[in-house]
Amino acid sequence: MGRLDGKVALITGGAGGMGSETANLFANEGARVVASGLAAPEIPYAQGVEFTQLDVTSSEQVRSVLSAIDTEHGRLDILVNAAGIEIEKTVEETSEEEWDRLIDINLKGTFLTCKYAMPLLRKSQGASIINFGSYDGYIADPKLAAYCASKGGVHALTRAIACDHGHEGIRCNAVCPGYIDTPMMQSFLGAAGTTETVADEIKRVTPMGRVGKPIDVANMVLWLASDEAEFATGQLFTIDGGLSAQIQQMRL
Ligand SMILES: NC(=O)c1ccc[n+]([C@@H]2O[C@H](COP(=O)([O-])OP(=O)(O)OC[C@H]3O[C@@H](n4cnc5c(N)ncnc54)[C@H](O)[C@@H]3O)[C@@H](O)[C@H]2O)c1
Repeated sequence: MGRLDGKVALITGGAGGMGSETANLFANEGARVVASGLAAPEIPYAQGVEFTQLDVTSSEQVRSVLSAIDTEHGRLDILVNAAGIEIEKTVEETSEEEWDRLIDINLKGTFLTCKYAMPLLRKSQGASIINFGSYDGYIADPKLAAYCASKGGVHALTRAIACDHGHEGIRCNAVCPGYIDTPMMQSFLGAAGTTETVADEIKRVTPMGRVGKPIDVANMVLWLASDEAEFATGQLFTIDGGLSAQIQQMRL
C-alpha cells in the first residue's frame, strides 16, 4: 500500500533538484506523476513518472498540459509548484526585465497553474496544492531582493487559495525550505563567495549542522499531498534544520 495510491499528480519544475526527488517519491508511493519542466532531467525518473515540457510562464502551455491530464486521467489530485529561479542581486542591481522574469516564473507561474487546475482539482476526493515558498519569504538573505519578494507573494497566494477553496475540499499549503543542496543552491553559493566557505558558514548557522537534502523536503511534500494531512491547509511549513528558529549568533 502506497501513501498516494491511485492519485494523479502534476509537478512543475519537475526536472529540478527538489521537483525530481518529489516526483520519484510520489511514484514510489503509488501516484501517477506528470513531471513537467523546460527539459527532461539527465537521470531517468522512477517508474510511474512521465515527463512533459511546460514553461509555467505560458498560460497556453499550462492549459494544454492540464487538458492532456484531463483526457488521460479525468482529474488531478495533487499539484506541486516547484518551478523557480533566483537572481542574486539587490533591488538596485536588479533590472526591470530581471524583476519581471523572476516574478513571472516564481509567482505568476504558480498563479497560472493553480488557476487553470481548479476544475480538475474539484473532481478529486481530497485535492492538495503544495507551493514552494521559502524561508526567504519571511526573512531575507542578502542580495536576493526579487526572490524574497516573489516568495512572500507565494506565501500570501497560498493562504488566499486555502481560504477560497477549502469548502470545495481543495487544500493549499506551502513548504518553505532553508538551504537545500540543489543546482539552485550551488548557484547561490557560487555567487556569495567560494562554494566551500559559504557551505561551511551555512552549516555553522544551522542548528542541525548540515545543509538540507532534497529528500528532506520531498518527505514533507509527500505528507501534505497525502490524506494524512487532510485537515492541514493555508499554512507555511518551514523545513530548514532550525535555521530560522534563532537570530544570528555572535562570533566572539
Ligand atoms: N534550493 C534551495 O535552497 C531552496 C530554498 C528555498 C526554496 N527553494 C525553492 O524550491 C523550488 C525548487 O528549487 P530547487 O532548489 O529544486 O532548484 P532547481 O534549480 O534544481 O529547480 C528549479 C527548476 O525550475 C525550472 N524552471 C525554471 N524556470 C522555469 C519555467 N519558466 N517553467 C518551468 N520550469 C522552470 C528549472 O529548469 C529547474 O528545473 C524553487 O521554487 C525554489 O525557489 C529552493
